[in-house]
Amino acid sequence: MSQVIFDQISRNSLIRRQSKKDVYRVGNYSVNRYIGEFWTSKQRQSSSIHEVSYRACFKAELPRFFIEWMTKPNDVVYDPFSGRCTTVLEAALLGRKIIANDINPLSRILGEARLRTPNLDKLKERLYKIRNDKSLKPDIDLSMFYHKDTLVEILSLRKYLLNRKRENGLDELDRWIQMVATNRLTGHSKGFFSVYTLPPNQAVSPQSQIRINKKLNQKPEYRNVREIILKKSKSLIRTLTKEQLSSLWTVSRTARFLNCDAQLTGAIKSNSVELTITSPHFLNTIDYYGDNWLRCWFNGIDAKAVANSIKTSKNVEDWNNMMLNVFKELYRVTKNGGWVAFEVGEIRNKTIKMEDLIIPIGNNAGFKSEALLINKQKFTKTANIWGVENNKDGTNSNRIVLFYKQ
Ligand SMILES: C[S@@+](CC[C@H](N)C(=O)[O-])C[C@H]1O[C@@H](n2cnc3c(N)ncnc32)[C@H](O)[C@@H]1O
Repeated sequence: MSQVIFDQISRNSLIRRQSKKDVYRVGNYSVNRYIGEFWTSKQRQSSSIHEVSYRACFKAELPRFFIEWMTKPNDVVYDPFSGRCTTVLEAALLGRKIIANDINPLSRILGEARLRTPNLDKLKERLYKIRNDKSLKPDIDLSMFYHKDTLVEILSLRKYLLNRKRENGLDELDRWIQMVATNRLTGHSKGFFSVYTLPPNQAVSPQSQIRINKKLNQKPEYRNVREIILKKSKSLIRTLTKEQLSSLWTVSRTARFLNCDAQLTGAIKSNSVELTITSPHFLNTIDYYGDNWLRCWFNGIDAKAVANSIKTSKNVEDWNNMMLNVFKELYRVTKNGGWVAFEVGEIRNKTIKMEDLIIPIGNNAGFKSEALLINKQKFTKTANIWGVENNKDGTNSNRIVLFYKQ
């Protein structure tokens, strides 16, 4: 074992006490593998501010474990595939500086607003200032999702936000409203604007919704858009302490949210990041248009154009080439003595282990693969997501490869 990881592991009493250790080999590389329960959802409830759904997001306990272990306040934490921004929000709660990047423009919409949490009275005032314009008609038929009066409220909100963006730019109240509304567009309970449909990270097509409505013999009922936004806002901030609120605001002053391909992040300075915590997509696992068409419509984003800009890797060789470019960028932006914690999944009916691909790639880019951490935790319902295995014995596991830049 290298001195670096030995020092790190001996500083982390959880790993020392709880883990089983062996050596994992990939070609010419061997890394120490630690298996244990390093974090659990029960051990520490994660902050309510994370409760925004996103396909394949990880639980906040995962980034928290590495942030607390490997960084100190004001260090820079980065996520090149930021999704709903779990890594950077957790880092901001802990007073770290943050950089988020995702090729999906919705990532910034979901992440940035949550650093500047609103005063609920001011939020209510702003929401009720926005007038309903009954003359507005949608450019696409959304009647299978929304009651006609709900649709008027959504269209009025959408027009307001798009105008504000064009004219003055959005302030923090607007951004917050945009983030919550984006999250509440469709879902499976009365807490969403739509009639019953799939959870919000899996938008269905209008045709599928018509089928769902027929099958369940349902028609969209009226939903009060403003009240739903207020209720969700209250819920999102419910666990935040004064210190956390102020930490999020402080971090927002230097936070960066990029919308680039993770292979091309020239906007980030070289040698500037202490720790990256990330989890990529794998091969052609993204149906960007299918997942995001409605949220993009609401935000005036051309979902087809974004979908076309995402080059999904069709085979392992493609994916390896892309990840090598990503790792070269990570190597450039990481400080000497900095780390990358890379969550890997088991794909294609367990025929491919992502660590077998990523360990050589990280080393080829200049890093040293220092450890493979396998976190086994008791099964919880919400952990049933991509990249997390729900084992038959009632445990989930996350696997993280740790890379070090000397
Ligand atoms: C597995 S998700 C990350 C989820 C995240 N850990 C969270 O907790 O929300 C992978 C993300 O990679 C993004 N992505 C895919 N290809 C990308 C690329 N070439 N550059 C940057 N981001 C990309 C997707 O838009 C998606 O948000």
